[in-house]
Amino acid sequence: MASLGSFAKTVQATSNQTLDLIAKANQTSLGQAVRPFERWLYDTGSSGAVIRCRQGDRLIARLHNQLEVPTTVHWHGLRVSKGMDGVSGKFASPLVLPGETFDYQVPLRDPGTHWFHSHYDSLNQIARGLYGPLIVENFDEPVMHEQVMVLDDWTVKGTGPGAFEVDWSKLEPGLAWGHAGVKGRVLTINGSIQPRLELAFQGATRLRMLNAATGRVFRPSFENVRAWVVAMDGYTCQPFELTSSLFFGPGQRLDVLVEPMDSGRATLFLGEELFGKGTGFEFGLGVEASVSLADALHAFSPYMPLELRPDTSAHQKITLDMSEPHRDHSKGAGMVDGQWQDWSTLVDNHRYWLFNNVADNSLGPLFKGRVGETIEVEMLNNSATHHVMHFHGQHVQIKSSSSAEHEVGSFRDSITFEAWSKATIAMKLDRPGLWPLHCHILGHQVSGMFTHYEVT
Ligand code: C2O
Ligand code: CU
Repeated sequence: MASLGSFAKTVQATSNQTLDLIAKANQTSLGQAVRPFERWLYDTGSSGAVIRCRQGDRLIARLHNQLEVPTTVHWHGLRVSKGMDGVSGKFASPLVLPGETFDYQVPLRDPGTHWFHSHYDSLNQIARGLYGPLIVENFDEPVMHEQVMVLDDWTVKGTGPGAFEVDWSKLEPGLAWGHAGVKGRVLTINGSIQPRLELAFQGATRLRMLNAATGRVFRPSFENVRAWVVAMDGYTCQPFELTSSLFFGPGQRLDVLVEPMDSGRATLFLGEELFGKGTGFEFGLGVEASVSLADALHAFSPYMPLELRPDTSAHQKITLDMSEPHRDHSKGAGMVDGQWQDWSTLVDNHRYWLFNNVADNSLGPLFKGRVGETIEVEMLNNSATHHVMHFHGQHVQIKSSSSAEHEVGSFRDSITFEAWSKATIAMKLDRPGLWPLHCHILGHQVSGMFTHYEVT
């Protein structure tokens, strides 16, 4: 039970077959330190597999809801059509009730490390494990040794290792939503506290990393390996060497090529800077030799589909101001239902965040445009907390960033914001529909940081 680990198996999906995705509860343990508990997951024949497909194919995934609550699947990072995005209500994707099934059509336009997760009651459902990695293979990339690494944290109570018990009550509305989000004290890689992951002893290993936590920002850095980032949020970028730690927020993906150095143990640190480097995770070394790092790096260059390349001058320029409720604004702390409210009214109702002064997720659409139009959005983080702003529908190009220089020029589906930072993005609208735009720190999403845009 314990040793199964999640994502140890791979399911290859093709256009001609429907893939069954069974959302269900399963007794799981994360390792010795935590008592067994009921985890939710997607069963694809084996519990919690990595799904691999090929660019240009179409994934048909049949969700079977065997949970006792409604659910959906969101295809994070993939350009799907209206109604297939897993967001219900006005966003037009059906809510799948207990006992029901639904077929998602997912065209695999863009290669890369993507993922899928519930988008109904997501803070709760993702925290309980309803997610999985989806790898879209690109045949132009060299074949090399790979490891998928899904990072997560789990909320627990108890006095220490062995006595830890998973504690979902930490997900209930609370002040954590108004700070950096809900964080769990137990960290796992692929559902295991002590996974064994091997690198090629010689040459490059591609780490496909996914941050599936609902609130924790990891800050990966490596020791005793040469490490180069080759893709962010699935899309390949101009490769750059990872010499210090990098912001790696909820929902984001990072593909890193690592090659062990001649001596010392290959180690990954995930700690947040505030608390030092954190505990190191040591890789094992496998027997297999892989392509050399230098050769592998030649094969990576920025991926940018023609239809997503923004025009040099934008049709519309929009501003999104992200802040906490105001303490000294003449009109009030923020708006609910179109009315200004005072600070304690907002905070007592767990409205901790404002988008353009609106505190109840009712702003929007932030903009409306037509397919082919270029929109520029200036996003201002006027708050003392970091955020990860995720666009549904398509990747966007980052034009400037005051806190994440390495993102400039790249295409991502999420944008990094350190405290008090700003960034500008440009996007060429690609798919008709209503598309959410929200913070992927999910405690923020449910307490004000959610809006949308409309494409016709
Ligand atoms: Cu990965 Cu709206 O989410
Ligand atoms: Cu946020």
